[in-house]
Amino acid sequence: MADSGSTVTPPSDAVTVPLTPPVADWSTDYDIFDAEYITDPYPIWADMRDECPVAHTDRWGGSFLPTRYEDVVAMARLVPVLSSRDPIVVRPPESQQVLGGGGYHTVNAPPISADPPVHTWSRRLILPAFSPHAVEEHATYTRTLARRLVEGFVADRRVDGAQQYAQQIPPRVIAHLLGVDEGRADEFTDWVRGVLEIGLSNPAVRAASREKIFNFFRGEVADRRANPKDDLISDLMSAEIDGEPVSDEHIVGTCNLMLVAGIDTTWSSIGSALWHLASHPDDRRRLAEDPGLIPNAVEEFLRAYSPVTMARVVSEDTEYNGCPMHVGDKVLLNFPAANRDPEMFEDPDVVDIDRLRNRHIAFGVGIHRCAGSNLARMEMVVALEEFLARIPDFRLEDPSAVTWAGGQVRGPRRLPLEF
Ligand code: HEM
Repeated sequence: MADSGSTVTPPSDAVTVPLTPPVADWSTDYDIFDAEYITDPYPIWADMRDECPVAHTDRWGGSFLPTRYEDVVAMARLVPVLSSRDPIVVRPPESQQVLGGGGYHTVNAPPISADPPVHTWSRRLILPAFSPHAVEEHATYTRTLARRLVEGFVADRRVDGAQQYAQQIPPRVIAHLLGVDEGRADEFTDWVRGVLEIGLSNPAVRAASREKIFNFFRGEVADRRANPKDDLISDLMSAEIDGEPVSDEHIVGTCNLMLVAGIDTTWSSIGSALWHLASHPDDRRRLAEDPGLIPNAVEEFLRAYSPVTMARVVSEDTEYNGCPMHVGDKVLLNFPAANRDPEMFEDPDVVDIDRLRNRHIAFGVGIHRCAGSNLARMEMVVALEEFLARIPDFRLEDPSAVTWAGGQVRGPRRLPLEF
């Protein structure tokens, strides 16, 4: 029997975001940092879909929020009218905006921050590093890491599944892939949370964290100019586009993206999957007894607990289904809500690990579709396989102690488990 995804709901104060005034009307005043929105957004999206499928708010710099699958897909394809020049869901202060052709830019993170034509070649540059074959080469490393982590806490009969397990895997895998010091994984984690989580409501933290990431990769690139290595950063440095080398600052921006895109997203997904299994014993038992079911379950976890919402900036005045949008307005591509749309998915709020028709867009859709999806899937599958192999029976130690982050990337940040 499949369980409902909303039968176990954490308390509304269990979030790691600032308190904001209560929402008066979700269609005209939504708040992506509202505690209720972060812990249990599904009923809110269901109401929005019925009442106002493209909602608007003035909060956090103002934005539009589509909740229907069809609209999210259509808007993701409106390139470059909806531009990727600022893909972060909260507009930064003017001091962090760089004025350029057609509006402001905030972040150098190609291809995610670029529109065509730069997007096209900057994406082509990184795709080989994420092919199924390339990813397979990181699977053994990931498995050994996951096994070592589990061995480190299995005797304690309790663990924080978010902090001691989910959060430990992606920063090391990305460091391993890029060829940088895995021993600095905790720093990478702090920097990425500074950009995508804490920094969303604290521009000073966001700027400082970004500065640390850029300085780190500037150092790594300079180091390789002097001593080339056999790793991804060196490969990017020796690549050519139309016979021309790629600038160091472009490579630094792309490395910044890989760190930021590859860490918070994947650990949030591993954490949400563990949260689901800890609170849905039938699913946990089935996956522990038959690990062959894990890849299909992972697709369902990605659909039902999609972590990522991305932003676009309107680059020319336009209208979407009668809704006027003006230059500079933000649109939040709500992939998580699209994946709960009943027009697209049968019983969308039922988390069914056997679901077969599952064309979810947790990895986005269109030209910016996640370049790292093979890697993310591998990490999720290996992380769950190794956890369940040693700890087939586990549960939430105290459901009220679970905390969630949200906004750009949603997932558990404290997840005490006992076994
Ligand atoms: C479960 C984990 C992950 C999820 C849910 C996820 C989700 C997404 C989404 C929704 C996008 C589309 C962005 C947009 O439309 O603006 C995206 C893009 C991207 N992701 Fe992921 N991602 C995950 C893991 C990873 C990993 C491990 C990497 C590896 C570094 C990665 C690298 C990228 C890159 C490079 C892009 C930009 C592609 C482009 O702009 O052409 N992601 N991801």
